[in-house]
Amino acid sequence: MPGLFVTFEGGEGSGKSTQVARLAARLRNLGIDPLVTREPGGTPLAEGIRALLLDPDRKPEPLAEAFLMQASRAQLVATVIAPALAQGRVVLCDRYADSTLAYQGAGRGLDAKMLASWNHAATGGITPALTLLFDVVPDLGLARRQGAPGVPNRLDREPADFHDRVRQRFIELAQAEPQRWVVLDASLAADELEARVWEAVSAKLPAAARLGVRRA
Ligand code: TYD
Repeated sequence: MPGLFVTFEGGEGSGKSTQVARLAARLRNLGIDPLVTREPGGTPLAEGIRALLLDPDRKPEPLAEAFLMQASRAQLVATVIAPALAQGRVVLCDRYADSTLAYQGAGRGLDAKMLASWNHAATGGITPALTLLFDVVPDLGLARRQGAPGVPNRLDREPADFHDRVRQRFIELAQAEPQRWVVLDASLAADELEARVWEAVSAKLPAAARLGVRRA
């Protein structure tokens, strides 16, 4: 089976991480062992970069932030994502290159073309077959996040207009490439959202996998 690369994008508190876990469990029930990872992070080096990036006590310049995101990405793609896809695995990644276009591009105001070219360098051109956008108004997402355990990360603390620009850019990216993106209403209940995620993902799986035919 050829590999399938699925990414999960959206604002803070959109519930996408829960959906990554639910999708992974569903795939495992069908006998498919997905590789589940996240950005920034996903390798020991990249998790170190993640800790630097999300630390509320640090204030990287926008360009430094963007380079750190790309350093994490380059390491994750080369050592985890590309090999897994080459082995034919289903790869689920919680955020990927589109987050840079939304957060560092629309959020921080860095040039979109420059970021796209860095994304290309860091990913070697590896693009998801499917990107799910968990779209939610920032107020609801941030309220959910505040109700969650743990300290808000450095990006959660950005002002409302930052999160509005991020959301808008995600919507524009989805509209520009409708064959890759599926936009989901992340204000829906988790079970309903899970059903929509499955609808989108199963359409991309080979028929045998969809029907739950286990590979020998
Ligand atoms: P995380 O706590 O994983 O947020 P979430 O659960 O919302 O995914 O933190 C990741 C943060 O990093 C999130 O605020 C988005 C940000 N980010 C960027 O700014 N640029 C990027 O390229 C990526 C991958 C993430």
